[in-house]
Amino acid sequence: MKTDKKNKSLRYPLKNIPDGTAKGFEITDENARFSIFIARNGSSVFAYENSCPHTGSPLDWVPDQFFCKDGKNLMCATHGAIFEVDTGLCIDGPCIGDSLRSLEANILEGEVVITF
Ligand code: FES
Repeated sequence: MKTDKKNKSLRYPLKNIPDGTAKGFEITDENARFSIFIARNGSSVFAYENSCPHTGSPLDWVPDQFFCKDGKNLMCATHGAIFEVDTGLCIDGPCIGDSLRSLEANILEGEVVITF
């Protein structure tokens, strides 16, 4: 992982995130510390703050375990909220209709670039 604090970005090799998996990161800058994760769905990547809209707890109870068993949606381990991987919208569970906070995610030269 490479972070660029001036431009507030993170770069991570796409090949290290297999299709249907996700990877979490702790970001520390001069003012704050927060968690994010990158989820891969085919050739697309999506990045979200690792904070459930229900109570603010992290989604993963095991590091990097963000997907449901079906590999199609994301799940919060605390109370089981289900989120669409491509939108972050909660489609089932205690915060239905709420959304994860998304971050800009792009793929450049084989690396995922997250702007935060
Ligand atoms: S904290 Fe995520 S569903 Fe309750």
